[in-house]
Amino acid sequence: MLSSEKSFLIIILMFCWISEAELIPGNPMLILQIVAAAIFGVFGWAYLALIKPPPPKICGSLNGPPVTSPRIQLKDGRYLAYKERGIAKENAKYKIIIVHGFDSSKDENLPISQDLIEELQIYLLSYDRAGYGESDPHSKRSVKSEGLDIQELANKLQLGPKFYVVGLSMGAYPVWGCLNYIPHRKGPDRKGLLYAVLSCISARVRFHAELIIEHESEAMQRLAGVALVGPAVNYWWTCYPSKLSKEALKMIIPQDKRTFQIAHYAPWLINWWMNQKWFHTSSYMEGNMAIFCDADLEIVKHLDKTPSPGQEKVRQQGEFESLYRDLIVGYGKWEFDPTEVSNPFQENEGKVHLWQGYDDRIIPRKLNQYLAEKLHWIQYHEVPYAGHFLIYNATLCETILRKLVNG
Ligand SMILES: *[C@@H]1O[C@H](CO)[C@@H](O)[C@H](O)[C@H]1NC(C)=O
Repeated sequence: MLSSEKSFLIIILMFCWISEAELIPGNPMLILQIVAAAIFGVFGWAYLALIKPPPPKICGSLNGPPVTSPRIQLKDGRYLAYKERGIAKENAKYKIIIVHGFDSSKDENLPISQDLIEELQIYLLSYDRAGYGESDPHSKRSVKSEGLDIQELANKLQLGPKFYVVGLSMGAYPVWGCLNYIPHRKGPDRKGLLYAVLSCISARVRFHAELIIEHESEAMQRLAGVALVGPAVNYWWTCYPSKLSKEALKMIIPQDKRTFQIAHYAPWLINWWMNQKWFHTSSYMEGNMAIFCDADLEIVKHLDKTPSPGQEKVRQQGEFESLYRDLIVGYGKWEFDPTEVSNPFQENEGKVHLWQGYDDRIIPRKLNQYLAEKLHWIQYHEVPYAGHFLIYNATLCETILRKLVNG
């Protein structure tokens, strides 16, 4: 990138030189043409070289990385790669979908012991979010599309009518998508009613009804419970009093603030921003340790010693389609605010837990606290002496899972 930035400068210098020095007497049109061509040239080149993201290297395509994991195909044709763990889903008591965060994947190793899996009888399903690992990129990725991907995944893998969802950090926005877009109002038992009526008419009609029901089963899927762990917040959610979000933005490291602002106000610049070398960009991407509190540092040290297998595949299809799209969607303009989400468990048949480390320096605690105050149906757990990576602490991870399934 540095060399392209140098050539960018050279072109600008040439442009200045032409416009200063080459005033040919008697032919002003020529100079105008040159100037116009240079301007177009510079902008065109800047667009292609700096701003336009490179095309993704799609898994399974010619010259793309290979497909090595099981995948399901979604209605729109995209594939999602997944990984199953724990008790077989047919026998499991609880089915839990794990939604990974920024720069992560389905292969992320959470400290969940075999003992705990057997005691709780849990089935764990993780998947690569669109554009990550071996899941196809989605050029229209949004809070909604990510939420509905989870629903479709649960449906295609036949998790049954009820499943739990855990959203980690940046993986929270797909979960907000689930909460907002997966219908959770308890409707009448249409299936039972239809069966009863149609069985009376004839077996043939009933056959057709079964097909319809098959189609409808997706709409009948419901969340059984949700855990948001160190959930990412959007500083531009309008529900926040502006004083609160301004204060929060002031507290985070300036280079991160700038990155989020670019993702929000000028998402078309994000590819250039993240690749330029003139200014600091995301502190995470630069490996800046200032974003970690002591508890996080301990965990990071430990994780460095035992990296998750498959970490090398996380960004293999391109950083734009995996990482930058997360920034654009997460910090972009949302169709809804979390405070507009209605209680998914009107009859107290499930719970939404929000876990926030007290010392988290990545996600300002006050902003999640505020959501929990506004949304009385959120069970807010503030964990003392914990940071952003609390899920990697085996004790806390166990607590989070127990609360999720036992309420
Ligand atoms: C995990 O969290 C618990 C509870 O906050 C704490 O006592 C313990 O020291 C943590 N363990 C590690 C390895 O950080």
